[in-house]
Amino acid sequence: MTSAAPPVAARCPVDHTTLAQPRDPNGCPVSARAAAFNPFEPAYMQAPGDYLRWAREQEPVFWSPQLGYWIVTRYEDVKAVFRDNILFSPAVALEKITPATPEVMGILQSYGFAMNRTMVNEDEPDHMARRRLLMDAFLPERLATLEPMIRALAREYMDRFIDKGRADLVAEMFYEIPLNIALKFLGVPDEGAEQLRQFAVAHTLNTWGRPTAQEQLDIAHNVGRFWQTAQNILDGMRAQPDGEGWMYETIRQHLKHPDVVPESYLRSMMMAILAAAHETTSNATANAFHTLLTHRQSWDDICANPALIPNAVEECLRVAGSIIAWRRQATADTQVGGVAIPKGARLLLVQASANFDPRHFENPDDIDVYRESAVEHLTFGYGAHQCMGKNIGRMQMRIFLEEFVRRLPHMRLVPGQAMSYLSNTSFRGPDALWVAWEPALNPERSGSRQLPPAGAFFIGPPPKASIARSVVLREKHAEGEGLFRLVLADPQGAVLPAWSAGAHVDLIAGGFRRKYSLCGEANDRSTLQVVVQREADGRGGSRHFCDQLEVGTVLQLSGPKNLFKLDESARHVVLFAGGIGITPVMAMADRLKHLGKSYEIHYAGRSRAQMALLARLERDHAAHLHLYVKSQGQRLSLPAVLADVTADTRIYACGPDRLISELESLSERWPAGVLHFEHFNAEGTALDPSKEHAFVAQLKDSNVEVAVAADQTLLQALQSAGFDVPCDCNEGLCGTCEVAVVEGDVDHRDKVLTKGERQTNRRLMACCSRAAGQRIVLAL
Ligand code: FES
Repeated sequence: MTSAAPPVAARCPVDHTTLAQPRDPNGCPVSARAAAFNPFEPAYMQAPGDYLRWAREQEPVFWSPQLGYWIVTRYEDVKAVFRDNILFSPAVALEKITPATPEVMGILQSYGFAMNRTMVNEDEPDHMARRRLLMDAFLPERLATLEPMIRALAREYMDRFIDKGRADLVAEMFYEIPLNIALKFLGVPDEGAEQLRQFAVAHTLNTWGRPTAQEQLDIAHNVGRFWQTAQNILDGMRAQPDGEGWMYETIRQHLKHPDVVPESYLRSMMMAILAAAHETTSNATANAFHTLLTHRQSWDDICANPALIPNAVEECLRVAGSIIAWRRQATADTQVGGVAIPKGARLLLVQASANFDPRHFENPDDIDVYRESAVEHLTFGYGAHQCMGKNIGRMQMRIFLEEFVRRLPHMRLVPGQAMSYLSNTSFRGPDALWVAWEPALNPERSGSRQLPPAGAFFIGPPPKASIARSVVLREKHAEGEGLFRLVLADPQGAVLPAWSAGAHVDLIAGGFRRKYSLCGEANDRSTLQVVVQREADGRGGSRHFCDQLEVGTVLQLSGPKNLFKLDESARHVVLFAGGIGITPVMAMADRLKHLGKSYEIHYAGRSRAQMALLARLERDHAAHLHLYVKSQGQRLSLPAVLADVTADTRIYACGPDRLISELESLSERWPAGVLHFEHFNAEGTALDPSKEHAFVAQLKDSNVEVAVAADQTLLQALQSAGFDVPCDCNEGLCGTCEVAVVEGDVDHRDKVLTKGERQTNRRLMACCSRAAGQRIVLAL
């Protein structure tokens, strides 16, 4: 008898064959790569996601002896730590990562430096009590009032250099405008950009850098002067507390609630906000322009279609955010990603690595301004401490891009410039960004592009409807009765995004938007293929796609997105398809064949003429294929086919409701996680206000309560309260809007969860499911 393998959580994550001298606090040797991890070497700042690629794959949570921190690199682990701000305290977020020498401490004290708790490094319950009092200024309607000023400043600054043909965008625009906006938002008088810039650099190096002992002395003097400047500004504002701006509101709350907003908080916040309010936006903007101009196709795409800009901003925040790592401290012995973390341990959560995790983002290394999941990046953090200023940053980045794509679409990066960054663990943005263009070609000189008045502007994450690329119908093949295979390509022949088995796209044309699974060759990057079944009695979408689209028609496509992922590690895979459900199954069969895995396909349909892709299935998968053609008297018996299901079997099914429900009934006898399915239709998921009741959603991670009215979905209520819950189908079909449930019974209405999953009440789909009672607690 062999003993069972220890649970992953109990195993040391380190490969002991690569013994190195250092040891982690648990007594295990540290791998050579973990020992070499040094965020202060240039490679980290040049491309932090790339720098930690090895860790995401081999050692996702590791001890860094050079830093004295546990480094967390995968998406789910980073999010899980952010989510639990009790077990993982934010108290160390502003701690000096390089300990101060006694001499430095003396210098800081000589300036009266007394940095203490601010919004980012305080524990509950103080943090939420303050955050609630101080959040009003960040509401979308308040932020919207800043838009005309940001746009006017953007135009004014561009006017200064537009005829020169060359500019350093950081020095000539991206530093000063966010600073001006931040001061205006805070209500702080203009303090001189250059001095504040020096102060902010000193603050960053002091808190997140690794200066030498000698450098620390100069930095300490600058930090001390910054502290004194901040206190002088604060004292001036307190003398006239009626002013407008967030700091004035904070002062007034301090006067009303000195227990919630104490004096020390006011003083610390004044300095912290002067640095944080503009630096992150300046850096993120410069990073975004560098990213888009380096990937010229993306820049050209937003010039051609500025509606893509909001999503391009999110994609840039994903691949080149300005906040790349943040800190937490474990308040009890625990585990992260299966690795034991002792109480008191400090963790560096590297968001810039998590944002490249292929377990969460498809093709994470591609810059894709059409990526619908871009908004799920962790650059703003997550949970109760998520960046409060995220929407101010987003709106500035959007406006800058809108102005540049109109006025300087032909702008290019000056070739050969080396990008240099301030060496630190957490904030990333180039010192300079040189661009050049030919002024004679400026659209406004030739009158080819007039500056339009500012159009409707929205605050928050990008609307999904804006994220779509143009494709052309290159081939259209009849595949049987009422079945058409559409072959789509980029109109200019550009490469299309990679996709994986089970993925789908949305086709958008003639006012219709419909989802179709991809079924072509997965390694063909020049085309995407779907099969559309013409439904004579449907809502009109399939009739439009089958009848109206001709070869050469240009339509819109969003995705690919995969919500029906294949577990490639399964010992044996059983695939079921009913009717048009064969399309994702075809792609899965192709993939399993490519991997040399054990699989079988069971495909049922009314008649051979109504069964798509038969010829290819018989050509490529004959030995694995079982057909059940009703007109020939063949019937699929699920219990007979599934007599021998084990824990390492995976069953994937796509087809009509009766196929899925029969499988669901059988699945009660199987281990959890065996059955996966995808439904065709969303019957029964729609909101009927006359039959609904209102309830309250308590958001545990954010410590907020959201009221959900009877005529509102939970998703709508969460989004209007400012929570970026992603969604896709809005019909309970896709699983995108899944939220974890902490407590309370759920009235499940989706078509995503299995019966067993519904009974556990651990997850719900916010677009359609509701609380069964008056209250539900969610992990948000
Ligand atoms: Fe698709 Fe909710 S958005 S299930």
